[in-house]
Amino acid sequence: MVTRDPIACRTPRFEGSAAVEDLARLPLRAHRSPALKGLLRAPGDKSISHRALIFGALAVGETAIEGLLEGQDVINTARALRALGAQVDRVGEGRWRVRGVGVGGFATPAAPLDFGNSGTGCRLLLGAVAGCPVTATFDGDASLRRRPMARVLEPLEWVGARALAVTPGGRLPLTLQGARDPIPIVYEPPVASAQLKSAVLLAGLAAPGETIVRERESTRDHTERLLRHFGAEVRINACEPRGQLITLVGQPELVPAPIVVPADPSSAAFAAVAALIVPGSELILERVMLNPLRTGLYDTLADMGAQIEIIDRRVEGGEELAQLRVRAGDLRGVEVPAERAPRMIDEYPILAVAAAYAQGTTRMRGLAELRVKESDRLAATAAGLAINGVETEIEGDDLIVHGRGWVPGGGRVSTHMDHRIAMAFLIMGLASREPVGVDDTAFIDTSFPGFVALMRGIGALLS
Ligand code: S3P
Repeated sequence: MVTRDPIACRTPRFEGSAAVEDLARLPLRAHRSPALKGLLRAPGDKSISHRALIFGALAVGETAIEGLLEGQDVINTARALRALGAQVDRVGEGRWRVRGVGVGGFATPAAPLDFGNSGTGCRLLLGAVAGCPVTATFDGDASLRRRPMARVLEPLEWVGARALAVTPGGRLPLTLQGARDPIPIVYEPPVASAQLKSAVLLAGLAAPGETIVRERESTRDHTERLLRHFGAEVRINACEPRGQLITLVGQPELVPAPIVVPADPSSAAFAAVAALIVPGSELILERVMLNPLRTGLYDTLADMGAQIEIIDRRVEGGEELAQLRVRAGDLRGVEVPAERAPRMIDEYPILAVAAAYAQGTTRMRGLAELRVKESDRLAATAAGLAINGVETEIEGDDLIVHGRGWVPGGGRVSTHMDHRIAMAFLIMGLASREPVGVDDTAFIDTSFPGFVALMRGIGALLS
């Protein structure tokens, strides 16, 4: 059976009125919970899910995807790809089929593309559209409209695309006219961003010759891995002292190859920290992807003294994955170096929660990029900690948390349309003296549908 619209849009849409947003809010409180026990499988990896659909849409023929994340962000990417001419169908839970149009083969969509809350879907498709002779308008919710797009538009204009109508400050909504004759560029991103790198590589797919990206800090490499999986020639050379040079040979014919999406380590992180801080807990996290460019949080938790056992490590579909056994235990404060940030960029809110339960000070360095995520995560994390009685400071781009081994709680956290802020602070409330409230859980569906039910299933008290 083929169903075209798998999930009703539960994410509140921005209507430009505070009252509309307030009505759609779904507050929740987390209470001190008994030991968490059992088995949990986090949903499919968000980064791979977006890319699986996009590469499927650029291939010639049918791509079969299993384990796709059916969160609102990925659903919006699927809808955008349909509007661009690909056939994208759901054939079962997490099972999708994509019939692609070929590199450079997108059609001009009839209406603006709405990416909701998702920077990844929007920026990657800006890149893919930049290499095609079509014009498309990109838009999103209030959170996405605040996020910087100029960083992506600049290299895409070098490729030959033109940004026609851009909201002041380089924001959405914007209209992009793709290049008729895309030019292969050599590009060094000014910030460590896998979205930016991927946008340039996606635009470069349609260009003749070699597109080269020189990353000073290596970021997640799912785009490069999937390009190879679909038959493109991608060469990667390590640079000194860090970073990498990525060379993509343009105008490949992308050949469909099946994709099985492993569990998202960024989503599994919430359950992992819950198991560490709720006394007596023991959890098994299944099929967690352990791509080395995504495991900074797990390395940091190990430095803090966490008991995380890696079981049954294996490679499936070109990615490493394993089961993780996590047991509660004492944590100590640590220094997290700035160069680790690209390997754990989405995990700082939940690391800050672990740091609050640790003994001693944790200093997380070099977090400037956190200011331009779904919310200003540096400010939102510090505010959520402070309102729950945790001593915290922001010094330049560093976040400092003074852990005492316990958390008073009792605060209500403003989530600012940010799924990870909501999940991180619900986890904090599972072990605090007083409950922790969050003002809105609606956005959790963007990356982790079923989060509340899964957490309740292992014993978390959320009401
Ligand atoms: C992502 C890259 C990261 C990350 C986001 C997913 C990706 O963003 O925060 O959740 O899939 O490429 P940046 O590239 O902006 O750091």
